[in-house]
Amino acid sequence: MVLKLCGFHIHKGFLDASAQKQMVDALRDLLKAAPLYRPDTPYGKPMRVRMSSAGRLGWFSDRRGYRYVDRHPGGQPWPAIPDQILHVWRDLVSDQRMPDCCLINYYGEDARMGLHQDKDEADFSWPVLSISLGDDALFRIGNPTRGGKTESIWLGSGDVVVMGGEARLTYHGVDRIRFKSSSLLPKGGRINLTLRVVE
Ligand code: SIN
Ligand code: MN
Repeated sequence: MVLKLCGFHIHKGFLDASAQKQMVDALRDLLKAAPLYRPDTPYGKPMRVRMSSAGRLGWFSDRRGYRYVDRHPGGQPWPAIPDQILHVWRDLVSDQRMPDCCLINYYGEDARMGLHQDKDEADFSWPVLSISLGDDALFRIGNPTRGGKTESIWLGSGDVVVMGGEARLTYHGVDRIRFKSSSLLPKGGRINLTLRVVE
């Protein structure tokens, strides 16, 4: 089922239980090579989510600002994006151009993400594709400029959102998660993957 909300295409239940489990297994190995870390915001406060990346470039934040970098803070290059994740991109976006970055966000019990635009990429012609795994999240969608009315929708494990076209620069965020609503991740929490063409 595909819902359209404020220009976002929301593919409810796109990944079945076995595809979700396989993705988590691939991520477990990947995160051994590129462990989750807690980045600082440019304002000096640590972020609420823990983060890592895969691909040629990883999204990074510290007091110097937001940017893409070619290495994990530990110094090693980011691991390759696992095939089953690229598969979702091929199915819903393109088989001609692969994403440069798969940003991995882990939401623990109290994590959330304020309304923001994904605008650190040099190329906005490609969509950002988001995959949700684990606990439900209350996802909020705003407008292409700050402020105004917003819409909210619960994203569940296996849901995929494509944020592109006119909605590529639409504000979005996560108000909260429903901790332990899913048993996919043994310790609870939520993983969100966003695939991005950077340049
Ligand atoms: C993000 O906007 O980078 C993450 C969105 C989400 O966690 O669903
Ligand atoms: Mn975003």
